Amino acid sequence: MDITVIANQKGGVGKTANSINLAAAMAVLGRRTLLVDWDPQGHLTEATGVPESPDNKTLKQAVLGEWTGDPHELLVEYRPNLWVLPTSLDMFLLDKGLYAATNREMRLAHLLEAFDGDFDNGVIDAPPSLGIGTECALMAARRRPGKRGGLLIPVEAEDSSIRALRLLLRQIGQLSAEMRVDINVIGMVPSRFDVRDGEMVTGILEAFRALGNPPVVAEIRKRTDIRRAWRAKQPVVEYAPKSESAQWFLDLAKVVMAA
Ligand SMILES: Nc1ncnc2c1ncn2[C@@H]1O[C@H](COP(=O)(O)OP(=O)(O)OP(=O)(O)O)[C@@H](O)[C@H]1O
Ligand SMILES: [Mg+2]
Repeated sequence: MDITVIANQKGGVGKTANSINLAAAMAVLGRRTLLVDWDPQGHLTEATGVPESPDNKTLKQAVLGEWTGDPHELLVEYRPNLWVLPTSLDMFLLDKGLYAATNREMRLAHLLEAFDGDFDNGVIDAPPSLGIGTECALMAARRRPGKRGGLLIPVEAEDSSIRALRLLLRQIGQLSAEMRVDINVIGMVPSRFDVRDGEMVTGILEAFRALGNPPVVAEIRKRTDIRRAWRAKQPVVEYAPKSESAQWFLDLAKVVMAA
């Protein structure tokens, strides 16, 4: 399974919407895809409408070794080719549990190895923080022999976005050095922006494009299709298959599948 994590410690930048729509585009392109709701807020589970895990069998318990059943029992089918590893009400205890655990940064990576033969692609929706949850997600998406994937960073067209990006890249540098791994930064995805907001937005977009490294690999504008698809608990490739937004995600999926 090639694993991609969608992360940015900034809140509300489009991590969850992009995770769902990217994964659904991969599924439409014929890839068996797993969506992982790794943000304790559980927005991905809510937005897909799949049921949360029952209290006696959860992602948090599996990651912390408190439940040792077959991890496949946690999966929920969402769409053809597309499965969700959903949240549960104990996810708020995840960070605390991880901090107390040995080999904590590798816990999610090791759990997801159980699905290596079942899926072509995994997409992890990371929490809005630079804490242990994000580190676990980054480690799961580290470079592995024969596997593709890496990190996608949705960015807002806001003045504070460049600083947020620098912080995230610095964290990745430190984590890679400490853990002796390589994390492939596939690129940035300016998201939820409206060019009608004028020069401030276009100026920041230009600044992102000019950075070059990481590259801008897609631009996902603010669209009512995306918001309505979310409310209808459908991916946009299904809700509005002929829309420009569906095409953006299909194009992004192709970039990520080749990363
Ligand atoms: N391109 C878009 N166009 C229109 N609405 C969008 C777009 N992307 C996301 N949204 C909407 O904006 C809201 C915030 O997006 P989302 O939840 O994906 O951000 P997030 O980074 O995951 O937030 P958090 O940091 O809280 O996890 C959601 O209601 C979502 O439906
Ligand atoms: Mg989110």
